[in-house]
Amino acid sequence: MLFANKIIKFASLDSTQNYAKQLAKQGKPEGTLVVAEQQTAGRGRFRRPWDSPLGGLWFSFLLYPKNLSAKLSLITLISALSVLQAIRKIVALEPMIKWPNDLWIEGKKVCGILTEAGWKAENLAWVVVGIGLDVNNPIPPELRQKAGSLSELSGEKITISELFIEILNQLDVYYARLKAGKEKKILAEVKKYSLVIGKEVLIETSHRFIRGKVIDLAADGALALSTAKGKEKIISGEINLIY
Ligand code: BTN
Repeated sequence: MLFANKIIKFASLDSTQNYAKQLAKQGKPEGTLVVAEQQTAGRGRFRRPWDSPLGGLWFSFLLYPKNLSAKLSLITLISALSVLQAIRKIVALEPMIKWPNDLWIEGKKVCGILTEAGWKAENLAWVVVGIGLDVNNPIPPELRQKAGSLSELSGEKITISELFIEILNQLDVYYARLKAGKEKKILAEVKKYSLVIGKEVLIETSHRFIRGKVIDLAADGALALSTAKGKEKIISGEINLIY
């Protein structure tokens, strides 16, 4: 078991991600996981603040993937699949994956994933995956249009520990699958639950906007886009669907 006996729990922490990154730099074992009941300085992608009050599930874990340098996107995607399958099993809701790192249900984001990595020369030295899942926590008014919690969407109060354990079980399964080279199987599953394949999108990357239609997921987890200028491969970015 990847996470057995390696869970470090806090009532409150600035950010599980920051803490886990320190542990990664100290070389703590693979699977070490940091979870906090609340975060005072949770952060999302693009340095956005991540609201993390009591009632949500906020955690980060360490991986040292060997020979997977070119497949960092797949680590985010297996994390998304793990949370998705756990939600389907425990809460009976049907999330979709908004590539590369979000889960959405009925037009609302319920989960965000932040994958960060350290490199030694050209090799991946460590990966920290941070998962933020809105479970029973209130959503602040300014985010209510775009974000939702599992309890509000299901109409039930959810037992966080049960959901958490199921996510960890799923992560064990999917990470083993990735290490065993079963990427095709993983990608087929991501496509099955994809919110974006076949859709017109506007993607914001770190330096430009690209408009096009999502045609596929590449073997390394990147997005294949058909644009006015031809085919493009996008490794990371923020997707806006064009309706
Ligand atoms: C995003 O959608 O922008 C990613 C959000 C990731 C939030 C999680 S909560 C646990 C971990 N600690 C953090 O500070 N961030 C991640």
